[in-house]
Amino acid sequence: MVAFRVTVHATALHPFVLERYSPTGFRRDHTLSSAEVHSLFEAARRAPSAGNSQPWRFIAGMRGDAVHRRLTGFLARSSAAWAPDASLLVANLVQRRVEDTDFEYSEFADYDLGQAVAHLTFQANALGLQVHQFRAFDRDGLHQEFALPDHWEIATMAAVGRPGGDATGTDRRRKPLDDVMWTVANIGSQHADPELPKSDRAMPSRRSRSPRGRAPGDQIRPVLVPRIEATIPFGTVRRVGVVAGRPRVVPGSPAP
Ligand SMILES: Cc1cc2nc3c(=O)[nH]c(=O)nc-3n(C[C@H](O)[C@H](O)[C@H](O)COP(=O)(O)O)c2cc1C
Repeated sequence: MVAFRVTVHATALHPFVLERYSPTGFRRDHTLSSAEVHSLFEAARRAPSAGNSQPWRFIAGMRGDAVHRRLTGFLARSSAAWAPDASLLVANLVQRRVEDTDFEYSEFADYDLGQAVAHLTFQANALGLQVHQFRAFDRDGLHQEFALPDHWEIATMAAVGRPGGDATGTDRRRKPLDDVMWTVANIGSQHADPELPKSDRAMPSRRSRSPRGRAPGDQIRPVLVPRIEATIPFGTVRRVGVVAGRPRVVPGSPAP
């Protein structure tokens, strides 16, 4: 039984967004076909990544097989209460460094792995499954168990299956939307960048209360830093403006 219900305006949200949650119970009578498992990792493989660097690998075990058993041996007490029942257990690996060097492989590696797992989660939902990502496991122990090279790290694990048993889930309270939007006011003032297309300007603030750290009546100004010329992959030079710490790519400025 699903104990949590998301109360949002259903018309605006995709069913995946409404239905997805992290169950703390899985049905032991459910198994995945190898075609379904294939589709999960195919979805992950198709995720976007910075410079197409694809800094991810996965170790996957189906309940009953040897890899699943090896993975469950390194669960923390909290995750050991529910993760072993999942039809599929996955260790999500991120490439931390370039092989045999101290160079960071990609500053976006964790970000990209997260997107890949999000793609897998989306595909799981399409198969009627849920995914519970978690950190509650022995990272070093698992690293040694699978004799992973040093430039790879196990970032997280994920349990995939059909919710069941005590599938109550975790804390689902969310910050209000107002709090997660870094809105910028006075965009039409002298501080606004007149060359930014209207569609790329920051949203006008709809806050009825003052943002964090500011007293009522304080003027909120967009933090505009000077433009920089950036070379991005695919050989195009684009003009980049940064508004309130959020980089915005302004189309145009073709490569000379
Ligand atoms: C990177 C990451 C690490 C997490 N670690 C754990 C964990 O160790 N144990 C756990 O029960 N849930 C873990 N979770 C699940 C979160 O607690 C869960 O996503 C959050 O409470 C929101 O609930 P929801 O996914 O049902 O919306 C983790 C999720 C992420 C993305």
